[in-house]
Amino acid sequence: MSVAGALRRWARGHTEQSRYSPVGIAFHWVMAFLVLFQLGWGYYCSWLTAGGEKLLAYQVHSAVGLPILVLALGRLGWRMMIPGPVNDADKQGWQTQAAYAIHYVFYIAFFGLPLSGWAMWSSIAEPGPLYLAGVVPWPQLPFDQLPLTTRWWIMDIAEDVHLALVIALLAVIPLHVVAALKHHFWDRHDVLRGMLPEIPDAEDPREETKHKPREPRIPQETAPG
Ligand code: HEM
Ligand code: HEM
Repeated sequence: MSVAGALRRWARGHTEQSRYSPVGIAFHWVMAFLVLFQLGWGYYCSWLTAGGEKLLAYQVHSAVGLPILVLALGRLGWRMMIPGPVNDADKQGWQTQAAYAIHYVFYIAFFGLPLSGWAMWSSIAEPGPLYLAGVVPWPQLPFDQLPLTTRWWIMDIAEDVHLALVIALLAVIPLHVVAALKHHFWDRHDVLRGMLPEIPDAEDPREETKHKPREPRIPQETAPG
């Protein structure tokens, strides 16, 4: 069996239980954390006055933002190979359509934000070095031979794209989170549960739990004499 076939079979063991695979879950929470951090940190950077501290803050912003581009490529590849689970919330109504539309916005932002950030960084007069996660050197986009006016134009467009995607995220993240909580607490659907790491639960009425409660220990009878 091919590697892709073996991975699909392994992931089906999870998706058939209405759960995302552990790889899908890891992608989700690592990227959710990074994106939320970037939104807060990017906002903080924009308030600093020009100078060394602001530059350093933007270096942190790019070091944390570039891994999102790499993770997005991995996640998209994974998602195209491994279909998501079908869960209680998949009812083909407007809510499912809205959820899919929001997922598309997220994927566009995963690519568009780092790419526009990278373009901004590369279009300034003397771009400083970029590092993936602060350690792996990352190249600049080849804008250094372009006329200055073209570079300003790129900077302008990239800045607009960056801001538009930030606003799009700020609009859809609350909808996504409120919908997840509503399905969990109000409708009692299994959709949020499927995106959380599996926690063995002795009380789980379903058979899927691998954790079995221990038998109570029966004290050994001691032989007389
Ligand atoms: C998902 C990843 C990212 C998110 C959520 C994000 C978010 C933000 C936010 C909230 C701001 C402040 C508002 C604004 O001016 O637009 C900002 C500004 C900025 N970001 Fe990002 N960012 C991300 C990735 C990156 C990357 C990878 C880079 C560079 C390689 C970058 C470079 C910049 C720059 C240069 C600015 C200043 C823009 C300006 O002067 O108007 N960003 N970002
Ligand atoms: C506390 C916050 C969050 C909760 C409770 C949450 C919950 C969930 C749940 C339950 C799903 C499965 C939905 C379904 O199958 O239709 C999901 C999917 C998804 N979430 Fe979140 N989420 C949160 C934050 C975020 C953030 C901040 C992002 C983006 C930066 C994000 C991006 C996604 C994406 C792209 C999917 C689709 C899964 C895939 O196919 O890759 N989530 N989320």
